[in-house]
Amino acid sequence: MGPIGLVDGRIINLDEKVAVMEDRGYQFGDGVYEVTRVYNGRPFALKSHMDRLYRSLRELRIPAVYTFEELAGFHRRLIEESGLDSAAIYLQITRGAAPRAHAFPENVVPCLTMSIRPAKSHAELRAAGAKIVFVPDERWLRCDIKSINLLANLLAKQRAKEAGAYEAVQVREGIVTEGSSSNFFLVKDGVLWTHPANNLILRGVTRTIIVEKLAPQLGLTVVEKPFDAAFARKADEVFLSGTNTEIMPVALLDGDKVGDGRPGPVTSKIMEAYDALITQECGRK
Ligand code: PDD
Repeated sequence: MGPIGLVDGRIINLDEKVAVMEDRGYQFGDGVYEVTRVYNGRPFALKSHMDRLYRSLRELRIPAVYTFEELAGFHRRLIEESGLDSAAIYLQITRGAAPRAHAFPENVVPCLTMSIRPAKSHAELRAAGAKIVFVPDERWLRCDIKSINLLANLLAKQRAKEAGAYEAVQVREGIVTEGSSSNFFLVKDGVLWTHPANNLILRGVTRTIIVEKLAPQLGLTVVEKPFDAAFARKADEVFLSGTNTEIMPVALLDGDKVGDGRPGPVTSKIMEAYDALITQECGRK
């Protein structure tokens, strides 16, 4: 087997048609999602991802019609039936299908779709360090909700791609917020800096692991305060974090070298600690 999908509990081929014309996810982007990595056939940090999913649902007032146990079971089934052991699972819940009208419909049943695909390896890029560019943050003011409305993120990522960069990091009113699909960290004089987890960024599961687990374990101080692009350009080290991105050192920022243009010592320690945590939770990376 390989990539497969799951709709409301039923395993399907990914080319099967599932969305109905008037699904609100399809027409309005009225839904939420999560992406969870699978290592060695086991989901990593699943509880944290599902906790965030329930929060996103609450914020959008979409009823939660699946329990954590059911969702965990769907993840297990996708892993088993796909036979994939290094993979990414995408989960989406939309408000459901109803005649098109902006306000919430009544008595609508949320629609769950999931898919599993092999994970991409970023090993070479991780060793060399990635290229990033700064772009204006054109998103709305509830970036803390993991909504499927991602147009501004897509435009940002496309700008990165056209610049030959791995990621576009967004800047709002001079302040560095986060990447189009990752969180942004910098190291200055041995201290880790990252944007506060407020409405302007997504509170990444990987970010939380770094801030609450890895940094304390490594004796690193974390500052969660806004900082501007000029401060970021003077950083000793820069890295990105995310479920697919994992910990990604940044070598070039808008064409200029970060530090000596190679993954720095603090970033390398965090990468090692993150890999160790995956091995601890999933048996091996
Ligand atoms: N993106 N910020 C944004 C805007 C994101 O979309 C993501 C994740 C992150 C990192 O969050 P986490 O560590 O929980 O993966 C930060 C997912 C992977 C995606 O859209 O594919």
